[in-house]
Amino acid sequence: MAKNKFLSYGRQTIDPADVREISKALSADCITRGPKVEAFEKALRKQCEAKYAVVFSNGTVALHAAYYAAQVGEFDRIFTSPNTFVGTVTGGILLGANLELLDIDRGTGHLDLKALNQAMLKQYSRGRNIIVPVHYSGSVVDMKSLESCIRDPDTVIIEDAAQALGADYSDGTPVGSCQWSQMTVFSFHPLKTITTGEGGAVTTNDPELYKRLVRFRNNGIERNPENWDYPEEAGPWYYEVHDLTGNYHMTDFQAVLGLSQLSRMKKYVTKRRKLVALYRKAFAEHKHIRLLDANLDKHSAHHLFVIQLDFRRLPLSKIELMEVLKEKDIGTQVHYIPIYRHPFFRRLLGDCREKFPEMERFYSDALTLPLFPDMREGDVRRVVDTVCELLEMSTAVV
Ligand SMILES: Cc1ncc(COP(=O)(O)O)c(C=O)c1O
Repeated sequence: MAKNKFLSYGRQTIDPADVREISKALSADCITRGPKVEAFEKALRKQCEAKYAVVFSNGTVALHAAYYAAQVGEFDRIFTSPNTFVGTVTGGILLGANLELLDIDRGTGHLDLKALNQAMLKQYSRGRNIIVPVHYSGSVVDMKSLESCIRDPDTVIIEDAAQALGADYSDGTPVGSCQWSQMTVFSFHPLKTITTGEGGAVTTNDPELYKRLVRFRNNGIERNPENWDYPEEAGPWYYEVHDLTGNYHMTDFQAVLGLSQLSRMKKYVTKRRKLVALYRKAFAEHKHIRLLDANLDKHSAHHLFVIQLDFRRLPLSKIELMEVLKEKDIGTQVHYIPIYRHPFFRRLLGDCREKFPEMERFYSDALTLPLFPDMREGDVRRVVDTVCELLEMSTAVV
């Protein structure tokens, strides 16, 4: 019998056209900071219906750039969900802001908007509220309801859409248009909707934020004479360093990969949607499996397929299930270890597990199953059959 191919929980799709484009780009005179980066940014602007797009070397630094652009600093407060990757908050914390984690809604995996609403009632003598909704699993946070929580006009919203390129809001406008936020951030890590190997982007409609995003990417350098402090010292060689930031450029050969991938993005999302529909149908009646809110499917980019199992009522632990699935060539993962459980955050916030009953429950129940565009329908059937078989074999205690 032919051996099954290992199904990882996510994986990139690289087309022969991608390889041809990269190969051509490597022969060009300019292999970084060149015309292909500009072309990719133009294509992202068009896709996202935003005025500006700036690409970066990865999503974590794109988020850092967004915090920098918004001039986040000491006394500011970042409100976000613990159900995310550390990169959501890294940049803001490095800039001196305080972290205010909120519990989640287990039906969506998003931050709980009721908790956000409560938090926004509190008044502070200084600092701004920086809200960072994470479009977890590629499904979109209810931004209209989020906006209605805001009391202070100085509040900044930065969408972490690392997992949600290709998703849209309920009115059909694409995520990235920034109609509900100052900035939206994407990642092009291999498992995301499209990839540039490593990569990220920020979209915005604000020219001042755009200026700061570009400055952050390029070592805090100002090239525009209008922004120079010492124009009288200028010559053809001249530029000014206005801040210490770092170098976060994307190369031109990554940008051509991004362009090539972006041209197939809709196809990838459609395929993901189809696979999710198959999973949903197959698991619909399963008494032990809970799925994320189906109402969000229509607008989601379907980055992850997450199921929830009440392991307290099963004789099989999550570790055992993951191990047996791995033996059967099915890769799984847990998204996410709550941010506050990591040692760095325990030092920062103390042991605060008790404050997050929904996140704690989600963490113990959630399991990510394989989902990526190259999966076939038969692969989904194999995953479903194997999971159902294993659950059946382990008799429920209650
Ligand atoms: C929600 C979220 N935020 C931020 C990031 C950081 O992106 P990157 O891996 O490109 O640095 C990721 C990707 O892993 C993510 O999933």
